[in-house]
Amino acid sequence: MTDAAVNAAEYAVEVAAVDKTFDTRSGTVTALEGIHLTVAPGEFVSLIGPSGCGKSTLMRLVADLDEPTSGAIRVFGKTAKQARLDQEYGIAFQQAGLLPWRTVAGNIALPLELHGVASAARRDRVAELLDMVGLSDFADRFPDQLSGGMQQRVAIARSLAERPRLLLMDEPFGALDEMTREKMQAELVRISGETGAAVVFVTHSIPEAVFLSDRVVVMSPRPGRVAQVVDMRLGADVSGGARASRDDALREERSFFEMVTAVREALHGAPVAGARGVETR
Ligand SMILES: Nc1ncnc2c1ncn2[C@@H]1O[C@H](COP(=O)(O)OP(=O)(O)O)[C@@H](O)[C@H]1O
Ligand SMILES: [Mg+2]
Repeated sequence: MTDAAVNAAEYAVEVAAVDKTFDTRSGTVTALEGIHLTVAPGEFVSLIGPSGCGKSTLMRLVADLDEPTSGAIRVFGKTAKQARLDQEYGIAFQQAGLLPWRTVAGNIALPLELHGVASAARRDRVAELLDMVGLSDFADRFPDQLSGGMQQRVAIARSLAERPRLLLMDEPFGALDEMTREKMQAELVRISGETGAAVVFVTHSIPEAVFLSDRVVVMSPRPGRVAQVVDMRLGADVSGGARASRDDALREERSFFEMVTAVREALHGAPVAGARGVETR
């Protein structure tokens, strides 16, 4: 979808001319400079770039956990603050962030409880979410009885509880082993497909970004800028248009490697040589 095809009010996320500086004891740190970015409803956009380039800062601005120094952020046409108050998005960050004294079901139910969903409806929804992430048999377990991958699935189920039109995910699979990670990627592709949610996804793995995304936003080292936006053209669908199916076979396809190369080249072309902290395997 081209930018012109969508009215501003219809963007899931619109970041316009955003700068973010932090005043620290050792001076001013410019974390983000001149960021423009739009995400269409249902679109999957990854942010990739070296450590410290401002990916988490940008996510925090969109989630209204901090404010831009200048520029504007809109989420479904609303201010970031209004979107937060209206629960327009689910969040899953690097640490699963589960409450250890609550069961799996209790953790997933939390956002529903906080927003006054009646208990019968809540039970139904939790059962549905447990099924979606393949944890129906673990409803009564506690987080410390689960593997890291399972905890992360609980966090994802929780982020989906209120059927958000948008998911904000900051390295949600960063702590997982490679096999679990690939499973979770496939799972996320399925879930975002089923729910039609837009996703903004931070990663420093190039293959992960390629596998998941419609577009990959490559950021430059500090001060973080958008160095390049790479459209993913994958599978049979090399001409763009409808999304290629994201399955394990895709990881072996030539178009997949071509996209990995395109993203790697975009990273290396960023100002200041090298892309430390970025996985290329
Ligand atoms: N609260 C803060 N105070 C001061 N500096 C910060 C703060 N948050 C982030 N930064 C700095 O902003 C830059 C971007 O950080 P971050 O967004 O966490 O990067 P990334 O997620 O891409 O690794 C880094 O130099 C970091 O040290
Ligand atoms: Mg980060």
